[in-house]
Amino acid sequence: MKLLYGILATLFALVLGALAFAYSGIYDVSASSAHSAPVRWLLHTTYHASMARRAEAVTVPDLTAERLRLAGAGDFDAMCAICHGAPGREPGALGQGLNPAAPDLAESARHLTDAELFWETKHGIRMTGMPAWARLTTTRRCGRWSRSSASCLASIRPRIRTWSPGPRG
Ligand code: HEC
Repeated sequence: MKLLYGILATLFALVLGALAFAYSGIYDVSASSAHSAPVRWLLHTTYHASMARRAEAVTVPDLTAERLRLAGAGDFDAMCAICHGAPGREPGALGQGLNPAAPDLAESARHLTDAELFWETKHGIRMTGMPAWARLTTTRRCGRWSRSSASCLASIRPRIRTWSPGPRG
């Protein structure tokens, strides 16, 4: 019984401590300051594990069609370059104010599989500024190329892989 009271008292103290921390305003949430090393490690590790686990279920569509490559190039310039930058182009003002910063996708493409890239593009990453592009499938832009959300979203992949100039690139 003593042990049970001890555990309950510890839990109560932890919850109270967490509430006091949340209401105190001590933690700096501004985008202009960096995360501390432990918080950065925790967020990054959680994000990678979550993404890798969910990407296992993704079936990547055929990305070789020229039509897809060109469509992806246009969309990359219109929707991604402002935050991620493009060859010879820095991210725009929006991208430069992000924390965490949007990574160089040429670099990301070296360590991410097609399935991981597709999953991240479709679902986004919560609380980082990376949007979920899944809703694109409802726009005319995507309907023009394909009814399939898979080919629509994954069309961005060849652009990242080849850095080839697109219609607007
Ligand atoms: C409003 C800004 C913004 C836009 C627009 C944006 N992204 Fe991102 N993206 C981010 C940020 C910030 C991250 C980093 C998240 C993190 O560090 O956890 C990110 C991360 C990613 C990653 C993961 C990279 C890695 O190395 O793990 C991929 C893939 C990605 N974005 C693809 C895209 C694509 C494709 C587009 C365009 C369709 C796009 N993003 C548009 C902000 C953006």
